[in-house]
Amino acid sequence: MSLHRADAAAVAEAAALLRAGRLVAFPTETVYGLGADAKNGEAVAAVFEAKGRPSFNPLIVHLADTAAAEEIVAFTGPARALAAAFWPGPLTLVLPRRAGCPVSLLAGAGLETLAVRVPDHPVALALIGAAGCPVAAPSANASGAVSPTEAAHVEASLGDAVAMILDGGRCAVGVESTVLDMTGPRPAILRPGGITAERIEAVAGTLADHRAGDGAAPSSPGMLARHYATRTPLRMNATSAGTDEALLAFGRDVLRGAGATLNLSPAGELREAAANLFAMMRALDDAGCTRIAAMPIPDEGLGRAINDRLRRAAHD
Ligand code: TXA
Ligand code: MG
Repeated sequence: MSLHRADAAAVAEAAALLRAGRLVAFPTETVYGLGADAKNGEAVAAVFEAKGRPSFNPLIVHLADTAAAEEIVAFTGPARALAAAFWPGPLTLVLPRRAGCPVSLLAGAGLETLAVRVPDHPVALALIGAAGCPVAAPSANASGAVSPTEAAHVEASLGDAVAMILDGGRCAVGVESTVLDMTGPRPAILRPGGITAERIEAVAGTLADHRAGDGAAPSSPGMLARHYATRTPLRMNATSAGTDEALLAFGRDVLRGAGATLNLSPAGELREAAANLFAMMRALDDAGCTRIAAMPIPDEGLGRAINDRLRRAAHD
């Protein structure tokens, strides 16, 4: 890890690191973000690994401008009005992924939606522009710790997991962006933040109010979100597989006899497995088998997050 004043040379170096699949912490107007190339599943997996999250939460994808956001998610009229009013700025919009969206499914925790925003910070915008890719970035703190508003906080919290920390001074807003779900009949705040409800309502009309038991509000308010679950029943820690089963394999010693098989990581690498998880769950879900059988995954590091997701799919 190295902490650098965010001058032009450091930004160029950080952009090259992002393109090479490495992690870079960078300032935004809200808090520091821990960035990865959103199109690179293994880089996104490394973000979850660095944060020590025991489960995959969907990440915000940062873009240089609205046009770049329109390339990956499908905007509605109100979403366009909000982007025009508040971007660049501390507002995150949750919108449906476009067909062929190149962002890794892991960045969105397998959901059909993606959270996108254009940050209002010259260093963030220069970095995203120079990298030339969407940048997936959660707040740059270890899971459970407070969000960092200075480069030194990032260094203390994440240290060696980050290839480079761009120091752009203290974050002006200091709280995270407002996360707004734009997929329902009315916009709904999933996380309060830098843009107030009143300012949003002035542009996009009345918000859905979950405290009033409003049916237009998301069922799990607050931090959110339904995660991808298979329609096909799933069992874990399989030590055999039937011909009617779709096998989610891991490692070299693949079980025989399944009707269909996909291997999360033939080499037994957890980052690769995490990067493949949601795409392979979807593909096996569509394989027409009566059950998905998942081979054991080591319950350590990213394996804990993979097992958490498989366990939810097994029980829901
Ligand atoms: O200000 C911020 O938003 C900072 C800076 C770095 O941009 N980022 C940040 O990211 O706070 P993170 O990962 O710590 O929080 C992202 C929030 C979470 O509450 C997550 O559940 C929600 O956004 N979120 C992300 N994608 C979502 C989706 N597809 N649907 C619903 N909620 C989503
Ligand atoms: Mg956070």
